[in-house]
Amino acid sequence: MDVTRIYLKNYRNLDEIDLKLSPSLNLFVGSNAQGKTNILESIYLLGTGSSQRTNRDSNLIQWNKDYFFIKANIKKRNRDITISFGYNGSKKEIKVNGNPLQKISDLMGFVNVVIFSPEDLKLVKGSPRFRRKFLDLDISQVNPYYFHNLQKYNQVIKQRNMLLKDIRDKKKKADLLFVWDQQLIDMGSRLIKKRLDVIEKLDLLAGLVHRRITDGIENLELEYDCSIDKLNANMSRADIQKLYTEQLEKEQDHEIRRGVSLYGPHRDDLKLKVNGIDVREFGSQGQQRTTALSLKIAELEFMKSEMGEYPILLLDDVFSELDTKRKKHLLEVIKDKIQTFITSTDLDILDEITGDNFLFNVKEGHVLLHSQGSD
Ligand SMILES: Nc1ncnc2c1ncn2[C@@H]1O[C@H](COP(=O)(O)OP(=O)(O)OP(=O)(O)O)[C@@H](O)[C@H]1O
Ligand SMILES: [Mg+2]
Repeated sequence: MDVTRIYLKNYRNLDEIDLKLSPSLNLFVGSNAQGKTNILESIYLLGTGSSQRTNRDSNLIQWNKDYFFIKANIKKRNRDITISFGYNGSKKEIKVNGNPLQKISDLMGFVNVVIFSPEDLKLVKGSPRFRRKFLDLDISQVNPYYFHNLQKYNQVIKQRNMLLKDIRDKKKKADLLFVWDQQLIDMGSRLIKKRLDVIEKLDLLAGLVHRRITDGIENLELEYDCSIDKLNANMSRADIQKLYTEQLEKEQDHEIRRGVSLYGPHRDDLKLKVNGIDVREFGSQGQQRTTALSLKIAELEFMKSEMGEYPILLLDDVFSELDTKRKKHLLEVIKDKIQTFITSTDLDILDEITGDNFLFNVKEGHVLLHSQGSD
């Protein structure tokens, strides 16, 4: 899959740009605060319907303007798709081949993207929220039904939390929980089952990559860390439902006292172990970085195996941060297979890049094709 052309209007600090893109490497080079990340962000937005940096779409509109507009031509399994995304501060209009989409969630699955930025170290070091987001976004992109379910689940959690508080504070009847519990168990167990399946695949892929990057010294394992007692990776959905039901019954008083839902996918985590040790707690900086890279590469391979095609890769400020060995490994994965967007403040990056590339200069929100090269 690749974006062949992108047009942006009033998007952040980019007034108007219209770029033909390389199917291989696209390098955006410029000083700080010129608009490099903004370009990558617009592509991410087309893939996921939201920015990696903000939840507020109005932040994406150029200051003093009243709308932004993005249009991209995409080649997907040799089909041409045009996606446009406009927002005027109150209404979003997203079209695929000229046909308006009803919901943002319908956008999921057209353009698959993987982003890797220094922030992604949080994937290893940060709170469970980052790892849940990693899983959810990965799965949603290849399975829009999962995304739909996740949104419904989050709604149920909100309602159920309100009720738990009302039972505690306003002495409402605990029986009222029953209806929400049924929905929670129904949707939550679907999400957990899917996560378990995907983690099994990611575990294999990430393990393989990690061993290769570390010359066979380190063994990376991924495990689902579930808030529901006694759950294991091989369980059927019915088993999960049963355990979930038992847990909610057992812990009802506890949940009412706390006034929040304590069990289910919104509380779960992904455990990362290197040579049997929790890399989040005990890994060195280098091990944590390598783990993040392995996870990202596994993400690429996972999407390829699910969709039959590699996603688009966005490398924001991350390439120059990697050491020679990791760079080399990453380039081998990308080369001639994955359309990649790389930002850098330094032209030295060209010394390390191999393969066909378009080099763009980014300055004060203007983007110029500087050269087209190959090695
Ligand atoms: N809505 C907006 N309207 C206009 N400008 C904006 C808007 N949002 C952000 N900017 C500005 O866009 C500029 C470029 O941001 P961007 O994050 O793309 O920089 P960058 O080139 O990636 O820099 P760095 O190398 O520091 O990461 C920033 O100066 C930022 O203040
Ligand atoms: Mg940037």
